[in-house]
Amino acid sequence: MKNKKRNILVTSALPYANGSIHMGHLIEYIQTDIWVRYQKLQGHNCHYVCAADAHGTPIMIKAREEDITPEKLVADIAAKQHQDLANFNVEFDNFYTTHSDENKKLVEEIYTTLQEKNHIYTKDIDQAFDTKENMFLPDRFIQGTCPKCAAKEQYGDACESCGATYLPNELIDPISNLSNSKPIWKKSEHFFFKLSNFENELKEWIKTSGLHKNITNKLAEWFEMGLKDWDISRDDPYFGFKIPGTESKYFYVWLDAPIGYLASFLNLCHKKDGLDFNSYFKKDSNYELYHFIGKDIVYFHTLFWPAVLEGANIRKPTSVFAHGFLTINGKKMSKSRGTFINAKTYLDNLDPNFIRYYYASKLGPSMEDIDLNMDDFVARVNSDLVGKLINIASRCSGFINKNFDGKLASQLDDTDLFDIFSKSSQSIANHYEVREYSKAMKQIMQLADKANRYIEEKKPWVMIKNDEQAKDVQMVCTQGLNLFRLLMIYLSPVLPKIADEVKIFFGENNWQWTDAENPILGKNITKYKALLLRAEKKKVDNMMAASNETTKDTLTKSDSDQITIDDFLKIDLRVALIRDAKKVEGADKLLELTLDLGESDRKVFAGIKSAYDSKDLIGRQVVVAANLAPRKMRFGVSEGMVLAAGPGGSDIFLLSVDAGAKPGMKIK
Ligand code: MSP
Ligand code: ZN
Repeated sequence: MKNKKRNILVTSALPYANGSIHMGHLIEYIQTDIWVRYQKLQGHNCHYVCAADAHGTPIMIKAREEDITPEKLVADIAAKQHQDLANFNVEFDNFYTTHSDENKKLVEEIYTTLQEKNHIYTKDIDQAFDTKENMFLPDRFIQGTCPKCAAKEQYGDACESCGATYLPNELIDPISNLSNSKPIWKKSEHFFFKLSNFENELKEWIKTSGLHKNITNKLAEWFEMGLKDWDISRDDPYFGFKIPGTESKYFYVWLDAPIGYLASFLNLCHKKDGLDFNSYFKKDSNYELYHFIGKDIVYFHTLFWPAVLEGANIRKPTSVFAHGFLTINGKKMSKSRGTFINAKTYLDNLDPNFIRYYYASKLGPSMEDIDLNMDDFVARVNSDLVGKLINIASRCSGFINKNFDGKLASQLDDTDLFDIFSKSSQSIANHYEVREYSKAMKQIMQLADKANRYIEEKKPWVMIKNDEQAKDVQMVCTQGLNLFRLLMIYLSPVLPKIADEVKIFFGENNWQWTDAENPILGKNITKYKALLLRAEKKKVDNMMAASNETTKDTLTKSDSDQITIDDFLKIDLRVALIRDAKKVEGADKLLELTLDLGESDRKVFAGIKSAYDSKDLIGRQVVVAANLAPRKMRFGVSEGMVLAAGPGGSDIFLLSVDAGAKPGMKIK
C-alpha cells in the first residue's frame, strides 16, 4: 500500500541557551523525534528543525556573570545541548541559533510588514527600573511579597504559592534581583502588536487546525477574557535584535524565537538541494507545518504566533501539539529536592533507549503531565524490552547460528501468525500518526507476548534434541525471528539505535514501514550480539545521588558560597561602645551586650563567652554590622552582630577600635 508522499516540516520548541538539557526537555525532543522518524519511515519528505533560543535578559545577565560575550555563551551552550540531544538519538535535520543573519533578516521583514499594515503601535508604559544597574527589569527579576496571599519572595508576574497573577507594581516591597535595591517606576515607550486585530482569523484557524481539546478549552478561556495586545519591545541593555528605526529598542525574545523556526529551516534550505523555503511558507502552501511544544508556551504558539504569521502574510501552522510536564516520582522536578536530573547525569548512568521507550509508553496526545517513577521505570523497561522483546531474538538466533549455518528457513512455520503481526501495521501506524504512542507500545508488547507464547509452545530447545523434530527448529526459529523483525520495524521510531543493529543482524540496509509486509526467508543472519542489558536499580540510585550532588554544587556556587564585592560593601560597619555585658541564663556560649551606636542603643547576642569575661568588656569599643536584619533567637532578638573571629574556645578575638573613634562612626 503506497501512501501519497507528504511534505512535512516539524519543530520542537527552542531550548533557552542558558542551561543544560534536562529530563523534562527530553519529553518534548523524544516525542518529536519519534514522530519525525515515523514519518520518514513512511517515506514522507519530513524535516525536523530546531535551534538554540539565544536572546533575552537572563542570557545577557548570565554572560555578564561569566564575563564572556552572550554570543560565546550561546554558542557554547548550544553545542552542549545539541550533543546531549544527539546522545539521546534525537536527530535534527538542522539545529541552528536564533542569533543568526537569517533570523535577523526574517524578523525585520516580518516586522516591517506588520508595521506597514498597521498592526504595530507605540505606547508609554510604566516599568520597574533598577537605578543601580541602570536597566529596566523583567518581571522575573523582581521579587517581593504576593499582594494576594502575602507569600514572600514571589516573582513580579505570578505567585508560586497561591497561583495569583498580577502586575509587578502590585508586589509588596519589591526588590531587584540584580542589585537587591528597591526598583523605581519609570516610563518608557514600547511597541505593541495588535493581537486584537486577529480575533476572527485566529478563530478560523483554530477550527481547521485539529488542536487537542486541552488547547481549544484554554483558547476559549482566553477569548472569553479578551485578547490583549502584545508588548514586543525591550529597552537597552538587552541581548537581541535592534528594532529598525530605533536607537535603543530591541525585539522581545518571544517575537524572534518562533521566527527562528523559519530561520533554521531557511538555513537548511541553503545547505540542502531540493528544499524550497517558499513552497513551505508561502501563504497558500499545502505543505504541512507542525510545532511540538510544552503546555507552558501554548499562548505564544496558538495566539501570538499564528497572528504574527497572518499579519505578515505567511502561512500558519497546520497544527500545534502540546505535551504535559515531567514529574519525578510524582513530584515536580526540583533542584532543592534533588530531583532535577540533567540529560548528562542520566547518560552517565543509564542507556538512552530506556527513557525513549519509557516516555513512549506514557505519551499520548494530551497535555497531561508525565510521571517518571523510578521503580516503575526499571520494572517497565526490564519487563518489556528485555523480558519480552529482546528475549525473542536471543531465544531463536542461537539455533539458527549453531545448527543451521546462520541461514533462515525458506518458509515460515505459521503464516497466519505472521499475518496477525503484519496486519497490525495499520493500527500501530495510526497510533503513531495521532501521537498515541502509549497505545502503539501497548499493542506492540501484546504482539511480543504472542511471539513468546509461540516459542514456548514450540519449545525449540526440546525439539532440537529430538531427531525427527530437529530439522523443524530452523522453521520455528525463522518464524520467531521474523516476528521479532516486525516488532523492531514498528519500534524503530522509538529505538532507532537498536533497530540499526537489528537491520545489520538481518543483513538489511534500510527499513521502510512497508518492509513489515513480507518476511525474510532463506537469507543469512549475522551472529547475535546482546542488544540491550537490563536496567539496574543501582544505576538509577547513582543517577539520583549524582543529581543531588550537582544541584548542591550549583546551588552553593551561584546562590550561597560567593557574594560580590557589592554584596560585601552593603554591610554597614559601625563603631559601638559596649555599655553593658551579661551572661545569658541557660546559654553556654552567649553574652548579651548592650551597645551604644551613637544615636541608638542595641541589644546584641554574641557567642564569645568562652573567651571573654563579661565585666572586662564593658567600656570597650568594638565593630558591629549595624544593618543586619534583627534576628529572633531563643533568648531574645539580636539587633546586629559584633565582629570577632578565631578557632573557638578561649581563642576568639573581638575586633577592637581605639579610643579616638566615636560610637556610631562608619568604618570603611
Ligand atoms: N525558549 C522557549 C521556547 C521558544 S519556542 C519559539 C522555552 N525554552 S525552554 O528551554 O524553557 O523549554 C523548551 C521546551 O521544553 C518547551 O516546550 C518546554 O515546555 C519544555 N519543557 C521545559 N521543561 C519541561 C518539563 N519539566 N517537562 C516537560 N517539558 C518541559 O520555553
Ligand atoms: Zn500568593
